[in-house]
Amino acid sequence: MAKSKLNYLQIVKLLGKHHQQHLLAFYDQLDSHQQNALLDQIRELDFKAIPGWIEQYVLNGSPMVVPTELEPAPYYPARPDKALAAQYDKARMRGEELIRTGKVAAFVVAGGQGTRLGFDGPKGNFPISPIRKKTLFHLFAEMIAATVAKYGAAIPWYIMTSPQNHQATLDIFESEGYYGLNKADVCFFQQGTLPMFDLSGKILLAHQSAIATGPDGHGGSLKALHVSGVLKDLKRRGIEYLSYWQIDNPLVKILDPLFIGLHDLDGAEMSSKTLIKAHPLEKVGNFCVVDGRVNVIEYSDLSDEQAHRKNLDGTLTFELGSIAIHILSSSFVEQLNAKGCGLPLHRAVKKIAYIDERGNPIQPDKPNAVKLETFIFDALPLANKSIILEILRSEEFAPVKNASGADSPEVTHRMMIERAATWLQSAGVAVPRKADGSPDATIEIAPSFALGPEDIAAKLDRIPPLSPGESVYLE
Ligand code: UD1
Repeated sequence: MAKSKLNYLQIVKLLGKHHQQHLLAFYDQLDSHQQNALLDQIRELDFKAIPGWIEQYVLNGSPMVVPTELEPAPYYPARPDKALAAQYDKARMRGEELIRTGKVAAFVVAGGQGTRLGFDGPKGNFPISPIRKKTLFHLFAEMIAATVAKYGAAIPWYIMTSPQNHQATLDIFESEGYYGLNKADVCFFQQGTLPMFDLSGKILLAHQSAIATGPDGHGGSLKALHVSGVLKDLKRRGIEYLSYWQIDNPLVKILDPLFIGLHDLDGAEMSSKTLIKAHPLEKVGNFCVVDGRVNVIEYSDLSDEQAHRKNLDGTLTFELGSIAIHILSSSFVEQLNAKGCGLPLHRAVKKIAYIDERGNPIQPDKPNAVKLETFIFDALPLANKSIILEILRSEEFAPVKNASGADSPEVTHRMMIERAATWLQSAGVAVPRKADGSPDATIEIAPSFALGPEDIAAKLDRIPPLSPGESVYLE
């Protein structure tokens, strides 16, 4: 949206028309710098859309309408039969060629607030590796460096931040020397924000000179890729595909030749990785087909009946969970932007700090505000072709989301060690195990040592014998 040039009086009139005059309640008390900042923020508000949002998402809480006619989505299985194995080999070769010729970039969304984990600062700075306590950012950087070394091609890394954590993220990369990556190939860009509303539809003030806003969801990345100039940068570099993942999953295979190759050979525009859900109500999005198009229905929106529905063989009808890993064709993102990126909004009612009409700061003890977000997976049905590849959870998915329990650092830790042990064993290395079958050693494999089990065999001479209870770091 082009920035409006409204002057103060026009803004007063506009706010009056939309019953949002309170945004200027403290205007006269501000210095000129603060006044301008506030007016600029108001100019950014999309008053063409806001009345509709208030009506639909704030006052009426418009629950997501989940279509009743859902069908299970077709997918490429993790364990292919013979015919499919040949297709996978071909796809893997194609994917490797695309990486080698610099057609694929890495893209992580890291603009979220990570409130559930209770970690201060950007979540990418959370230490997670079992022995060296490398952070998520550090691990991803090492995976990219190892992929660059393996294929001999530059791999730009795009990192989406939000205004809430942009500077802090830059500071981390600066102080860590970009983890040894070429600085010119690490590109940060910020997502947009949306205003937050109180439950009566008034836009909240965070303080006297600022509106309360929140990041516009990972779906905002599609617009931000355009607005920030990343799409142009991709063109300049000759990049065709973005390999997208979320900041919370240290087991991610950042550039997976098989996935990239299948996407390319099938002429897909946006593709996804999936796993078979651990149980019907696992907190992951659900892949379904609606009107012939792939959709993700969030766990909170799928009905209990749909979540528990079973096939004749006892498997779940909607068994495919989203691990939020996608390939986006850059041409698809361009087309979406040409059409205005109209993803649907989702509402969440949250506890948001604000100032009241007298200017007192309020820290609410119960949810008081509506936050609106868009989700990247809502672009899936807009793609003309979309493939889904199943992966094994133990190999590729151990997100850190909660301080304890499911998806906690403790679980992720265990899974990282278990995966390392499995990789070693697959190459014939003896791994001591406890009575319950879990590894009786703490093992950490640096991405420089192996990006997958296939890289282990060539390095057997560098692996010491493992004794029970030992810690072994391989790099
Ligand atoms: C998400 C998916 C869920 C999927 C699961 C897999 C949603 C709504 N749900 O759940 O379908 O099965 O992951 O782990 O996404 N982010 C931004 N900007 C934002 C908001 C989020 O960049 O404005 C980023 C976060 O930094 C993070 C990712 O998006 O990397 C996921 O956000 P989060 O809100 O944690 O999603 P989940 O509820 O965990």
